[in-house]
Amino acid sequence: MKPVDGKEVVSKGNNTIQWYPGHMVKAKQMVTQHLPMVDVVVELLDARIPAASRNPDIAASLGSKPRLVVLNKADLADPRVTRAWQQQLQEEGSSALAVVATGKEGLAELPLRAAALAKPALERWRRKGRLPRAPRVMMVGIPNVGKSTLINRLAGTGRLTVADRPGVTRIQQWVKIRGDLDLLDMPGILMPRIGDTQVGMKLAATGAISDAVFDLQEVAYALLSWLLEPYPDLIRQRYGLTDLGDPLSCLHSIGIKRGALRTGGEVDLLRTAEHLLDEFRGGRIGRISLEYPTSTNVVG
Ligand code: G4P
Repeated sequence: MKPVDGKEVVSKGNNTIQWYPGHMVKAKQMVTQHLPMVDVVVELLDARIPAASRNPDIAASLGSKPRLVVLNKADLADPRVTRAWQQQLQEEGSSALAVVATGKEGLAELPLRAAALAKPALERWRRKGRLPRAPRVMMVGIPNVGKSTLINRLAGTGRLTVADRPGVTRIQQWVKIRGDLDLLDMPGILMPRIGDTQVGMKLAATGAISDAVFDLQEVAYALLSWLLEPYPDLIRQRYGLTDLGDPLSCLHSIGIKRGALRTGGEVDLLRTAEHLLDEFRGGRIGRISLEYPTSTNVVG
């Protein structure tokens, strides 16, 4: 096993992904060490794949700690599906919010929701006769879900780094965010559980795991097989196609339309796959969700 992108470390024998144990243990330690210090955990999921982007062990790790489920990258997801996810999560008793960390959606609402969830803990604190303090929040999520972007956005321009503060050698752990909340300036990195190939493919399609892990042609093929039924018009419009056919012939047609050809005129399926994935990840095909809430696959 060797590091991939310097972040996650994986092996892909038989399509089973194994995270580098050292990295996983360190990430888990960070969460468990800081958990007692916070009142609320903000669990960041990818709005396009809320089930696959979730670490299924997190519920057990958090115990009774209040949790705000945040569906980030909502700008890339199908808004109707995101609303359905929110509704289902709420019906199941989780506070859920759609957010665009790179934009505006949900950014004002997030601290208000977190503060509301922190209220009982602060009340207990006050009853013990302690001095009032701001609600404390920690953010957790799998790599690339947008944790750093969201922390930066919530902390705003007033955020100080260690180097900005002469004489301060201690690593600054907390940042003040909107609504007078204290946010741990260090997100908890969780690893997804890639139990089956479908989950791995969804993580690969959205760019959550490195392109070195799966065969990109297979990922593009899987992506098209998920898109052709619910979003045929988006594919037709984006690539000027009338007849989509099955996923493989569709990938082929996209290659022709985009001029991804080898010398001799044969379609370069790898280049086509890279192009399709790049367009999907950048939201250029449209707002697309790859997972729908059902009573069986919704996060618990
Ligand atoms: P992480 O800390 O959880 O690992 O994620 P990070 O914030 O580094 O974000 C990963 C990528 O996701 C970044 O893009 C970031 O801009 C993008 N991103 C985060 N939130 C949103 C969102 O709400 N909507 C969209 N569309 N993108 C989002 P990148 O291409 O890896 O980096 P960059 O070139 O944008 O800096």
